[in-house]
Amino acid sequence: MIEVNLGGLFAPTLSDGIDESALQEVQSKVRSAHRELMARRGRDIGFYDIPFMEDIVSAVQEEVKRLRSIADDLLICGIGGSSLGGQALTAALGSQGDAVGRVHFIDNVDPDTMSRTLDRLDPLRSAAVVITKSGSTVETLAHLLIVRRWFRASLGQGETRKRMTFITDPEKGLLRGLAESEGIRSFPIPNNVGGRFSVLTAVGLLPAAFVDINIDQILQGARAMVERITADEVENNPAIDFATGALLGLKHYNGTSMVMMPYTDALRVTTSWFVQLWAESLGKRVNRNGEVVHAGQTPIAAIGATDQHAQMQLFIEGPRDKLVTLVSVENFARNLSIPDELADRPEVSFLHGRDLGELLHAERRGTRAALLNAGVPVMDVTLSEITPETLGGLLVLLEGACALAGTAIGINPFDQPGVEAGKRMALGLMGCPGYNDDADQVLARESIESAP
Ligand code: PA5
Repeated sequence: MIEVNLGGLFAPTLSDGIDESALQEVQSKVRSAHRELMARRGRDIGFYDIPFMEDIVSAVQEEVKRLRSIADDLLICGIGGSSLGGQALTAALGSQGDAVGRVHFIDNVDPDTMSRTLDRLDPLRSAAVVITKSGSTVETLAHLLIVRRWFRASLGQGETRKRMTFITDPEKGLLRGLAESEGIRSFPIPNNVGGRFSVLTAVGLLPAAFVDINIDQILQGARAMVERITADEVENNPAIDFATGALLGLKHYNGTSMVMMPYTDALRVTTSWFVQLWAESLGKRVNRNGEVVHAGQTPIAAIGATDQHAQMQLFIEGPRDKLVTLVSVENFARNLSIPDELADRPEVSFLHGRDLGELLHAERRGTRAALLNAGVPVMDVTLSEITPETLGGLLVLLEGACALAGTAIGINPFDQPGVEAGKRMALGLMGCPGYNDDADQVLARESIESAP
């Protein structure tokens, strides 16, 4: 079960909140975005249909079986949308116990991290998955070269090929070419699925399956959610509700930031995945008419109860520019009763026999009430429990909400032109042919700074 509740955006639940009649205008924009997205579904927008791709589960499982027969440790090289989905799934659902394989996500070009990771691993019992949709992301290409040499130095050329799996564009790019010329196993990321919408392709499923997560159940949950969020019936559509809540926060409460705050450690990394999805999709300089709008809503990652002792002071008393999304999990996988230690001490005796999950629920309810009392709008997302099904559903819900919010505010949520310039300049500085002018721009900028 997954529900979205917007009650905390309106009076009387929210102190000084707007009346529920304000819902109509924003809701009708989101509903019209819904109609547009449904018309484009399966054409230029592919993420709704991924969970229905039947052979993906068996293809991933077969590859994982092969990889597990030669490796206990799997390096996952990729960045942004080519890494965070796998990280989210494995962090939320993976036991990472001794009985299963271990995954190591390399999503930065920090030489210390990469060196330490390789030092810890045995190339004879390791394999690597290299993920880049474009096939041209410089960070991932650098890792490809390092990992390839690392394997080759101890295993030789033929064995190195067996140790690698590529996930990339179905037709073009360096990895696709190498996969074909060297016979390296590969999975395609469909053309109409962008990086940050690719979690339910092999990008997220392969790392998840390597640590024994039931990827079939993830897709079952995702399919059930796709049915809900793509229905013609626009009432009780959690993606429409989430997008409406976000845009209401933006419009009526100056909610230029959205705090995403799950009350469960299982969703810590899912929150980082959401931050990328929301930031890269909605933060745009121009709208679809080419007008300068500087749109977006800054996502802020928080975790309950930990951030009640860190960021919450800012959320409650700081700038009035936030909407807080509280994510609760009704049932935890484990109960942990608080023992009656220090039986004669009244400072702690009220805790005796209570459950730790009960305490976490109380923390969330208390924080929610404090936010609402302070006039900070709250959106609630409730999951019955953390399972492969609910996580699959949650990821699709948030993807759908993001696509809706972007479309409703008139920007393109599926591109990321703003990050191109910096990427080109870095390539130029590293001597990549064709990027001299970009490098010159950096040097010109730096010479201004160093001028006396
Ligand atoms: O969401 C996106 O499109 C980006 O975050 C990409 O995933 C990221 O830039 C990595 O791109 P690629 O998969 O082409 O290496």
